[in-house]
Amino acid sequence: MNVLMKAALYALALATLGPYGYERYLTLSTIVAYRPGNYTPIDTFKSHDIRLRTAGVRNCEDVLLDEDLGVAILSCDSGRDRWNTVMGTFSPDASLENGKLWLYDYSDTNSNADDTINPLAFRNFPNENDFHPLGMDLDKETSTLYVVNHAQGGSCIEVFLLEVNAKTLTHVQTIVHPLLHAPNSIESIGGGRLYITNDHMFRSRVFPVLSKIETFSGLPGGTVVHIDLSRPEDAEIVARVPFANGMTRLNSTTLAVASTSKAGLYLYDMQPDHSLKFKTWIRTPAAVDNLSIDSEGTILMAGHPSALELMKLSKGRPLCNPNSESEAERLACDCTAPSWVAQWSEEKGLETLFHGSYFCSSSTMVRDVKRGISMISGLYERGLMVIRE
Ligand SMILES: *[C@@H]1O[C@H](CO)[C@@H](O)[C@H](O)[C@H]1NC(C)=O
Ligand SMILES: *[C@@H]1O[C@H](CO)[C@@H](O)[C@H](O)[C@H]1NC(C)=O
Repeated sequence: MNVLMKAALYALALATLGPYGYERYLTLSTIVAYRPGNYTPIDTFKSHDIRLRTAGVRNCEDVLLDEDLGVAILSCDSGRDRWNTVMGTFSPDASLENGKLWLYDYSDTNSNADDTINPLAFRNFPNENDFHPLGMDLDKETSTLYVVNHAQGGSCIEVFLLEVNAKTLTHVQTIVHPLLHAPNSIESIGGGRLYITNDHMFRSRVFPVLSKIETFSGLPGGTVVHIDLSRPEDAEIVARVPFANGMTRLNSTTLAVASTSKAGLYLYDMQPDHSLKFKTWIRTPAAVDNLSIDSEGTILMAGHPSALELMKLSKGRPLCNPNSESEAERLACDCTAPSWVAQWSEEKGLETLFHGSYFCSSSTMVRDVKRGISMISGLYERGLMVIRE
């Protein structure tokens, strides 16, 4: 039996199982219920500001904070319009832009002065012209930045030494590993040990149809892999999650993994041998993209309440040309998929903070509690939403 038939039978078999069918119904019905214009907007933010629109910052997926310094690192890829290995957009052309990592000084967002933002300059980076960053994580102790690169030459993890003062990233190594076939998000636990999610079993580049079936069926094809960079041969799969996406650690023992296709969070106990023991699952009313945690231990999550709208958007994006004479090409740059942002803590449960579309396609929210500043990035959006609380 070939792989395709196997997967189709698997999907069919599972779809006929009662509880599973009910789960799917709940998830798919949220996807359909939140068509644009068919939801009640929620906006709990006292004041917000969309910044960095003129700085050429767009299509940002991940944001990391260094609260001591008041700086954020943004992982953005203008090339995502034509090259998105997760959503399955493969229209590269000679003008395909490369992604950038930006250093943004958010400590002074109150002033009307221009924002202080600079691209981090690469040193000794052979993939600079094939760089399409997604998730990243910083090991503060060694100032090592790990970045998922969805390069056209093949997905990999890039390891850099970050020097904030010099605004440079010196390349250390590129990691390619058979268990990291569709890397999405990275959680560094120190000493070169990483948890990495693979969003799909079937990569959309190789299996476009199966990859979509995998997304909509909610089959647990995504994985969480533990890898110790000093012994990559010992890497292993420690959990299977439908469309595994962002991750964050709640404390020394609990790891949260977002599921985009089963719309929720999986919590695991991290065992001393790095294996993961499933603890609980928290349902969310939207497909969760990335997670972060603030200094008070509240999980922040951003995601996509209308998967169909996001798919439509990514499908039309390769046409986008903001300066074109053609109206169709200009319209393809519009960002219409609504955003959804929420927080969760054990005490308060799940609280939706924002559901709306004046800032589109939210992918990550981060919060600096002491400064009272939060930021939201948008997968297909220009700029960054900055919120003051
Ligand atoms: C999500 O954010 C976390 C940091 O909170 C980071 O480690 C991870 O790589 C990010 N993933 C994606 C897909 O952006
Ligand atoms: C970590 O967080 C989880 C979820 O809030 C909680 O159940 C657990 O007791 C915490 N563990 C520690 C060691 O604080």
